[in-house]
Amino acid sequence: MSTQNLAYTNEVANATAPVYEKLSSQYNKDQWEKIAPYIYEINRLKAEKNATILVHNYMTPDIFYGIGDIVGDSLMLARKASQTNADIIVQCGVHFMAETAKILCPDKKVIIPDPKAGCSLANSITAKDVRDLKEKYPGIPVVTYVNTSAEVKAESDVCCTSSNALQIVNALKKEGHDSVIFTPDQYLAQNVAAQTDVNVIIYEGSCEVHELYSAQNVIDARNTHEGLVVLAHPECKPEVMAQADYAGSTAQMDDYIKKHQPKTAMLVTERSMSDNVAASNPDVKLLNMPHACPHMKRITLQNVLEALQNEAPEVLIDPDILERAKHPVDRMLELS
Ligand code: 13P
Ligand code: SF4
Repeated sequence: MSTQNLAYTNEVANATAPVYEKLSSQYNKDQWEKIAPYIYEINRLKAEKNATILVHNYMTPDIFYGIGDIVGDSLMLARKASQTNADIIVQCGVHFMAETAKILCPDKKVIIPDPKAGCSLANSITAKDVRDLKEKYPGIPVVTYVNTSAEVKAESDVCCTSSNALQIVNALKKEGHDSVIFTPDQYLAQNVAAQTDVNVIIYEGSCEVHELYSAQNVIDARNTHEGLVVLAHPECKPEVMAQADYAGSTAQMDDYIKKHQPKTAMLVTERSMSDNVAASNPDVKLLNMPHACPHMKRITLQNVLEALQNEAPEVLIDPDILERAKHPVDRMLELS
């Protein structure tokens, strides 16, 4: 089926009804009649091609609930990618996530609907920057956030995600390291440093989305919403973290809301996360958040369908880089 003749037939309506039930407060009927044929066709095609779709928590709800096989945070997507039996992996997230899937599944075809879906953190550091740091601080291990290119990972000792950064740094301490070089997120590094006695050498990258939030945003929200529970992603500045009730990765925030069911909550992170959490927690009022990640938003149902039809664009990594990048990713999975 080409993308021109996708129609909202009875079959499509019936097959997608359970998803619409969940998302009816987010999409009106007219919008749904345009969305549902894509969901139906993507799901049909992925079964035909034995493909699996990895969906990050920042995807819009149509993608998150309509076509995701494995949904979650960076760590969860990496772990589950390494266990899949699919022939094709479609990454609905940003490029470094697709590269991580390829590093863990080098024999599978990994496709990303828009290879321009980057990340300001991944763009902030090169392999040479890591080599220069190692020269400046010889013998000190390099902990690299997964939000980086395969080339940068290849120069690093161990990777981490927002859910295990502290755990990884403390595991290195147990191995006898009193200092670590932490790249490239300065705020995640500062937030980790505040919780450990390991000396953290900080690189100056940042997330262009999370750095937009301020402590004042949280204070203002608390003043207008009584009993507000505030959850913040550790890519936020320390001044924001100091105002939050809970800090965690996107999956950890999701778990917190499921478990505690607060009356009103604010997720200080990318905007779609709140929409996805709201759809599964009808008794919790989630505040609308203002900031979207422009890179994540490059992935749409339209380009996912085209990518599946064409089995492209494929993510390819130089075999030598892949081999070297696998070591710190495997090490992270072992240590966390
Ligand atoms: P998580 O690992 O928490 O999903 O974060 C990934 C990310 O890009 C946050 O901006
Ligand atoms: Fe990168 Fe920030 Fe977008 Fe996450 S939200 S992918 S860290 S730019």
